[in-house]
This record gives sequence, C-alpha cells and structure tokens, in this order.
Amino acid sequence: MHQKLQNLKNEAVNMIINASDSIELEELRIRYLGKSGQLAEISKDFKDLSPEERKDIGQLFNDVKTAIQSTLDSSQLHATSYKPLANFDSSLPGIKLPIGHLHPVTTAIEEISEVFCRIGFSRVRYPEVDWDWYAFEALNMSADHPARDDWETFFVDIPAHAKFGKTVLTPHTSNGQVREMERLNHTPPVRMINIAKCHRRQSDISHTVMFHQFEGLVVDTNINITHLKGTIEYFVKNFFGPDRTSRLRPYHFQFTEPSFEVDVTCDLCNGKGCRMCKEGWLELGGAGMVHPNVLKAGKIDPDKYSGFAFGWGVERTYMMKSGTKIDDIRLLYGNDIRFLNQF
Ligand code: FA5
Repeated sequence: MHQKLQNLKNEAVNMIINASDSIELEELRIRYLGKSGQLAEISKDFKDLSPEERKDIGQLFNDVKTAIQSTLDSSQLHATSYKPLANFDSSLPGIKLPIGHLHPVTTAIEEISEVFCRIGFSRVRYPEVDWDWYAFEALNMSADHPARDDWETFFVDIPAHAKFGKTVLTPHTSNGQVREMERLNHTPPVRMINIAKCHRRQSDISHTVMFHQFEGLVVDTNINITHLKGTIEYFVKNFFGPDRTSRLRPYHFQFTEPSFEVDVTCDLCNGKGCRMCKEGWLELGGAGMVHPNVLKAGKIDPDKYSGFAFGWGVERTYMMKSGTKIDDIRLLYGNDIRFLNQF
C-alpha cells in the first residue's frame, strides 16, 4: 500500500501539472480526491491493517492528499477557463479595434504651424505661466493702465518677482514677443509663430476659460503694413481656402500702432451677409505694427527696425473653417466622443 500511495501521488501531480485548463483540473480533482476517487478507494483497505500499520500508512495517506491538493490549488491560479477551440480558423480576419484620431484643436495647431513655417516662420512656444513683465509691462501696458482690464487675468498666488512682478496664467500669447527678441539676442530678423494655451475669466458660447492663440511676430528693416496685409491674406487663402478673403478694421491695442481687427469673409454666405456673420464678415483677431516701446523692451532699435504682430484664437479660427459647423466653442472641450468623432 505504501508503494501504491507513492505511485498515485506521482501520477496525480504529473497529470495536474500538465493539465491544459481549469475544466481538466476539476476532472483530475474528482478522479483523485473525490468521494469515489482513487484515494478514497485506497482508504477502503485500511480496515485490513494492524493498528501499527494504520498509523504509518495514515500519515503517508495524509501527506499524499495534501500534496495533490496543493498542486491543484497552485495550478488553478494560473489556469485559463477556456479549452482551445478544435475548429478555430486562423485564416479568418480578426476583430478590428477602433482607432482614435487627434483632437480637432491639435489638428488645427498642426495645420496653422505648417502654413506659417512654409513662409519662413519659426514655430516656438513660450510659457503659459509667466511674469507680469512679459504679459503686460513689456507690451507698453503699465501696472495701472485700464487696457489691462481687457484681459481678465488669473494671477498666481506667489510673491512678486523684484524685477518681473506678479505671476499670471498668460491671457494671450503676446508674452512671447519680447521673449523671442531676447532668444534671438535682440538681433532681427524675427519671424516667429508662438502657439500656446491662454486663460481668461470667460465662459460662454464663444469663450472658454482655457483656449489657444497663435501669435505672429515679424521684425526686420523696412517692414510695413503691406507685409502684414500680405501675410494675413496668404494665411486666409491657405488655411480657409482660395475663395475666402480678409480685411483690416481700425482698432486699438496698447502694443501695436496702428492696430487692427482682422476679419475674414463668412464661409456660409461667402461675404454676402447672413445671420451667422456681421454683413458677410467674421472676426479673426487682433493685429498691428509693433509699438516702438515694445521693440525697446526687447532691446531692438525702433529707428532701425520695424515689425508687425498678430494674435488669433486657434479654436475660433478653426470654427470659421468651412464645414466645421461648431456653434458653441465649449463643445470642443466637453469631451463628448460623439461630437469629436465628427472631425
Ligand atoms: C489679444 O489677445 C491680442 N494679444 C492680440 C494681438 C496680438 C493684437 C498681436 C495685436 C498684435 P484679443 O483679446 O482680441 O487680442 O484676443 C485675440 C483672439 O483670441 C480673439 O479674437 C479670439 O479669437 C481669441 N480669444 C480671446 N479670448 C478668448 C476666449 N476666452 N475663448 C476663446 N478664444 C478667445
């Protein structure tokens, strides 16, 4: 009986280790440890043993039972619950997993960068949390200037820097203007396109608290308004399509003189006038000739150099593209996959 128990243990452990799934393991449990299993079968012969032998074999019996049970337990942990399908056809096409796509704002940023890089602009990205100096002071807006109320700014609650002042979540990408002049060691030509996140205390159908702007800045000798107008028209035709055109409307910014608002013809009525636009025009954003004080803040001589700048919202610009039909800017950040899958 001693040998019989040893053989049974070896056979059972071997079978359990090589079992291919949990169904087979259950069959083995019943075969060896079940009520009418092989161990139970052996125990029926215990009655023929002397008390001495019964003690000895009883100990071995318990050891064999424990060994089989613990091998079963550890094998169950790693077992799969499925048997491989005998008639599996590996030539059938697999299940296609859905592939995502870039967010429309990311696509718009890529397209805008590409259009400007084609005519020699360098794509840069300046801090989205910056000092008051770069966001306002260096842009010809002193601390108490009422124009600063136009940018409903978030201030960061940390002590002010002795030279650069308070810290803000940049309300516009114009903070990149003087930073770019510094990066180029105050030496034109400057041709930058700065695209970054901006923050303002605004939220409605055409405003979000967080949005993106793209800021163009060109500084060189003899730069004038025709260069600004030509660059805008180039962008409008290349981003919106050859049928769209632009116009400049007089405006005021503290950091450009003269300043303009740039309009683009409406894609729905093609400039004729409809309920979506203002007499055929949609507003793109601000622009103008760089103010001499801004050049001075960037340590560039305004008597030698001149420049133009513009700053437009990525989301609004994208919404003006034909066919997007986004009637509420907040939808872009609602994270509704049904909306995003349209693009
Ligand atoms: C500016 O921010 C100026 N810095 C632009 C500029 C740059 C003028 C260089 C001259 C020279 P404005 O506040 O108008 O200007 O904003 C420009 C554009 O940003 C708007 O036309 C709009 O497209 C976008 N924008 C502004 N606020 C929001 C907002 N809360 N949500 C979404 N887009 C916004």
